[in-house]
Amino acid sequence: MGTDKDTRSSFFNKRNNQLTFSIRRCTFDDLEKVKDVNEKELPEDYPFFFYKSILDNFPESFLVACSKDDPNHILGYVMWRIERIPSKNSLRLINKGHLVSIAVSESYRRLGIASALLSKSMPEILKRNITEYVLEVRVSNLGAVNLYKNLDYKVEEIKKKYYKDGENANYMILTIQEE
Ligand SMILES: CC(C)(COP(=O)(O)OP(=O)(O)OC[C@H]1O[C@@H](n2cnc3c(N)ncnc32)[C@H](O)[C@@H]1OP(=O)(O)O)[C@@H](O)C(=O)NCCC(=O)NCCS
Repeated sequence: MGTDKDTRSSFFNKRNNQLTFSIRRCTFDDLEKVKDVNEKELPEDYPFFFYKSILDNFPESFLVACSKDDPNHILGYVMWRIERIPSKNSLRLINKGHLVSIAVSESYRRLGIASALLSKSMPEILKRNITEYVLEVRVSNLGAVNLYKNLDYKVEEIKKKYYKDGENANYMILTIQEE
């Protein structure tokens, strides 16, 4: 049996041949594996029914990255939901695309997986007529903040003590330009 190191090096070799990972929609059968990635990579855990409700309600933007050799090997995921809130200028309700969670297994980071998950899921959630994309990220999570800044998200405000352990969140938004 190969070691994790062997798996990693063959993955990197394949990267050079452009055969790395693929992005596809999450299925019900993936949910336990997505939950496993989340529990390993992030302090915020969710119950199974939460993943299931995101999959039921927003299936088009709930994507997974998987190994091309083994589509059941989940390397990372992204999930979005819609928030419906009053517009600042009128009583009209507007939609925001809220990034619920994104994570990539530690062995597979800095390969462009999160960027690919975001660039494929954002057009999907956009189809729900959103006016902006929004997300919270720990102020200490500089890697993730860089990832979002690369996509032109801007820090709108700091949400004080947003996380259970008391850490502040950067509230970042990307406004959609009207045509
Ligand atoms: C944040 C996270 C999703 C990034 O995943 P990834 O697949 O490694 O990201 P990418 O390879 O697409 O990175 C794209 C760019 O983001 C920035 N970036 C990503 N991770 C970074 C890090 N650790 N330090 C600095 N910049 C980083 C870089 O600009 C990178 O481009 P580069 O590799 O060409 O320099 C991953 O580190 C992760 O799962 N972290 C734990 C979970 C988490 O923090 N989720 C976000 C919660 S809001």
